[in-house]
Amino acid sequence: MTGVRELFGSRFGGAPDGVWLAPGRANLMGEHTDYNDGYVLPFALAQGVTAAAARRNDRRLVLCSRQEPGGAEIELDGLAPGRVTGWAAYPAGVAWALESAGYRVPGACLAIDSDLPAGAGLSSSAALECAAALALTELAGLAVGRGELAAIARRAENEFVGVPSGIMDQSASLLCRSGHALLLDCRSLDSSQVPFDPPAARSRLLLINTRARHELTAGEYGRRRAECEQAARLLGVPSLRYVTDVAETGRLPDPLLRRRARHVVTDNQRVLDAVALLRAASAGPGPEDTYPGIGRLLTQAHLSLRDDFEVSWPAADAAVEAALAAGALGARMMGGGFGGSVLALVPAPACGQVREAVTGAFTRQAWAAPEFLDAVPSASARRLPPGPR
Ligand code: GLA
Repeated sequence: MTGVRELFGSRFGGAPDGVWLAPGRANLMGEHTDYNDGYVLPFALAQGVTAAAARRNDRRLVLCSRQEPGGAEIELDGLAPGRVTGWAAYPAGVAWALESAGYRVPGACLAIDSDLPAGAGLSSSAALECAAALALTELAGLAVGRGELAAIARRAENEFVGVPSGIMDQSASLLCRSGHALLLDCRSLDSSQVPFDPPAARSRLLLINTRARHELTAGEYGRRRAECEQAARLLGVPSLRYVTDVAETGRLPDPLLRRRARHVVTDNQRVLDAVALLRAASAGPGPEDTYPGIGRLLTQAHLSLRDDFEVSWPAADAAVEAALAAGALGARMMGGGFGGSVLALVPAPACGQVREAVTGAFTRQAWAAPEFLDAVPSASARRLPPGPR
């Protein structure tokens, strides 16, 4: 397969000024906690979105993508939410959000390629935003801090594209370090790097794309946000992050809101527990129990997402069950829910049997075969050196 530089050459002629890669993300712990001001623990994947870009002398953004038919030509002047639809709304939204934040963006040609499976819940949209954000700011010679760039990319998604997501995905793509997970406090936006290197402990993180499509624009995600906000109001706190004692959620009269709040409060605690385990392991000769302990937290998180937050889906439940029965240390659905991927922590020797067990379970249900990806904690978005990609 030819690379994004060739795509650029065939569509626009000549060579790009640069190529930028923004990774997708997996999330070890902390789901539906970001928009509750809570904690998340994502890591960047090796897979991502690449943008080959060159400056233009006018105020046009000209876009093409290997994955999407047809391109788009967008006038930067007069850009406003609702003016651009489809995949082009993500890079256009980034240009709009940058300009709204006072950064003047140049016209540019952008060729986009991706090796992230779309719809697998691995944040291909955030990766697209972040690749465009880096390309546009660096082409313009603008120095924008990574934290601010994440906030700008999120604004593009929330206000321009109209998807009410939190800050996790863009932060993961822009702030992660290889061999680490990122502990992000979504209230203060403080972040720190947590050593996380499963292969060193003879373990693997397996991403299981269940091939059930997830669609954040669909109403359930927004409904969960509204339920969490309502629960916080009833408990008299600005957000569910302020509740640290799970017993407090018992004060909610509505059992549904009680379950929603219980998920958020316990998942915040699971993030902190996972961080404590990983930090203890990296501080000295790691306690034997680190990875089994992380595995138990993953499985508890799945039950909480399935039963309390009610965002799991049948193929995720089946994948988790089959993976655990075949020797995984733990597994859970990942991301917003209702489709996408499952993350399983597996002792390296058990990887083959876990794949077989999950594939077998899907075959028995006559579901499309799952796709497996090795999730390796990787580096954040960056400009790629010259050469093929
Ligand atoms: C999606 C959103 C994130 C986060 C997760 C759930 O991935 O984009 O902001 O809310 O769902 O944890």
